[in-house]
Amino acid sequence: MNELNKFPHNFESEQFLPLFTPQELQEITQNLADQISKDYAGQSIAFIASLKGSMIFLADLVRKLNGVKAYIDFIHLQSVGRTKESLGSFSILNDLSIDITNHHVLLVKEVIDVGRSVDFLKKRLQLENPKSLEIVTLFDKPQKRKVELTPKYIGKTLPDHFVVGHGLDLDQFGRNIQGLYHLKYPN
Ligand code: IMP
Ligand code: MG
Repeated sequence: MNELNKFPHNFESEQFLPLFTPQELQEITQNLADQISKDYAGQSIAFIASLKGSMIFLADLVRKLNGVKAYIDFIHLQSVGRTKESLGSFSILNDLSIDITNHHVLLVKEVIDVGRSVDFLKKRLQLENPKSLEIVTLFDKPQKRKVELTPKYIGKTLPDHFVVGHGLDLDQFGRNIQGLYHLKYPN
């Protein structure tokens, strides 16, 4: 699929190299959905997705589940400082709107890098005393990890390359690109 017409003119499309096709992203997501459906068979799960990056992954993931009841909610964090990685200071732009106390919770993330945003989200969710709390991430980039985190469900582990597409942005651009691309000249 050629999606180069989705790159804005001020980006050079040659800087972006294809990493996963839309089809491959669906296969990765199906695999995660199958594991979750098996582990939580017959139960309900509150899927709490972190905005904005995980919107596409969440939409795919919940539609691929089988035999589990899904509640869905969002938290929107604003990271103070840089756009490519978080420094650990956050404010909550949009908080939980459902009751997750005594519910199984899965925190849905598109990518975990340094890990500070997930660490912050985990602590926020733990305040509500869920029955269980696990993390599902489509991509894990553990190389620069600064906090201890063990996501239970990982789609793909990636090297320390900045990736764009499938919900993930570069300065708010590229969320609507269907494949996943990585920057040719990393970071
Ligand atoms: P961290 O795990 O706290 O470093 O934060 C991860 C956040 O940085 C994610 O929620 C993304 O918004 C952003 N991020 C990290 N790596 C990438 C990437 O490769 N592409 C797009 N956004 C990224
Ligand atoms: Mg971003």
